[in-house]
Amino acid sequence: MFTRVCPLPASVRYVRSFSISTTRSAKAIIYTRNGEPTDVLTVRTLPALAVPRGDQVKLRFKLSPVNPADLNVIQGAYPAKPHPRDDLGTAEPAFVAGNEGLAIVEDVGEDVSVVQKGDWVIFSTPQFGTWVSEAIARQSDIIRVPRASNSSLSEVQAATLTVNPPTALALLTQFASLEPGEFVIQNGANSSVGQAVIQIAHRHGLKTINLVRDREGIEDLKGQLKSLGADYVMTYNELGEKTARETVRDWTDSKPIRLGLNCVGGKDTTLMARFLGQDAHLVSYGAMSKAPLSLPTSLFIFKNLTCHGYWQSRWYQQHSAEERQSLIAEIVGMMESGLLQEPSHEIVVLQGSDEEMQSTVKDAIGTSASGRHKKILFHFADI
Ligand SMILES: NC(=O)c1ccc[n+]([C@@H]2O[C@H](COP(=O)([O-])OP(=O)(O)OC[C@H]3O[C@@H](n4cnc5c(N)ncnc54)[C@H](OP(=O)(O)O)[C@@H]3O)[C@@H](O)[C@H]2O)c1
Repeated sequence: MFTRVCPLPASVRYVRSFSISTTRSAKAIIYTRNGEPTDVLTVRTLPALAVPRGDQVKLRFKLSPVNPADLNVIQGAYPAKPHPRDDLGTAEPAFVAGNEGLAIVEDVGEDVSVVQKGDWVIFSTPQFGTWVSEAIARQSDIIRVPRASNSSLSEVQAATLTVNPPTALALLTQFASLEPGEFVIQNGANSSVGQAVIQIAHRHGLKTINLVRDREGIEDLKGQLKSLGADYVMTYNELGEKTARETVRDWTDSKPIRLGLNCVGGKDTTLMARFLGQDAHLVSYGAMSKAPLSLPTSLFIFKNLTCHGYWQSRWYQQHSAEERQSLIAEIVGMMESGLLQEPSHEIVVLQGSDEEMQSTVKDAIGTSASGRHKKILFHFADI
């Protein structure tokens, strides 16, 4: 069904092949009402962008990740909302989807001081609307990616650096003060956040127990996570087996697990919490199963469990521009030093007519939402 039309890295796919026209026009993935992304998203050719003036910057997008929260925003089930736009050529106000992305500066207004042509930028304004091929931003919307001219930072790393790696770093450092050799248990361990947790924990000498859903090829997935530095990987089903407690006790040498990380919720997280030791912290940062989290009262009374929530957006809201830039520089440093690899991903190239792109977008989002899939990033082909 899929046609690859030119030699590309294995992680890149062309969902369909198309004829290519010579003029370049800006495209955006938009919606005018909340609903299921596969129902409400359309692809639209935008009116020609103006020349940037004053503090404006003209951007050409390179990669736009599809994060679970983006789908929740489109559904109207997320606290952060994009601004309605009346400059997209639609009869009613519309929203451009997408929160995270990597763009290159193509042109700058006369008052712009923080970037120049050719710089890579990411977004400090939440819900900027990054699923777009080109845009005009203000310089306050963007952060220059701080990379040296000989930097090894890849486009995928840069495009995915604002949300998941900082979350992983915060989860490991802000809630429990762990010594090297101590254990962390996490669910959704193959998510992009989970992959970053594994790598950062490994570098700090922490041991990880990583929980994933069962699937065809589970041993391959276990191998991939171990190659990132995971100490142990098991499925939720395996955790539910009678022998699991003994297995985990062997792995930890009976040391208490003092940090649990949860992006799933539901009964599998209840089970995971039972493996936490005395005075442990359980940090919830996602709810992929959409099921509520229920915890035995005894964990609070007898084990002194403390539960927390974490939202990276709140961190960005509560910290200054300098602190945000410093965090981004720290994550870029981790990527350039090889500590943090690209998340497992697939680049979906969008080209052809608006209808053809729309169909590609919906195929890709349908696949992403159904789970057991790599992180998807959109790339609008030069058109
Ligand atoms: N609070 C914050 O600041 C913050 C920041 C970043 C991310 N997050 C949240 O963290 C989570 C992971 O984000 P991501 O971008 O790293 O994800 P991702 O790379 O897109 O991966 C999605 C993960 O969710 C799992 N999953 C999907 N549906 C599931 C279900 N019904 N039950 C159990 N697991 C399911 C997938 O497992 P399979 O492979 O088995 O499908 C995969 O591990 C999301 O909930 C996201 O919203 C929160």
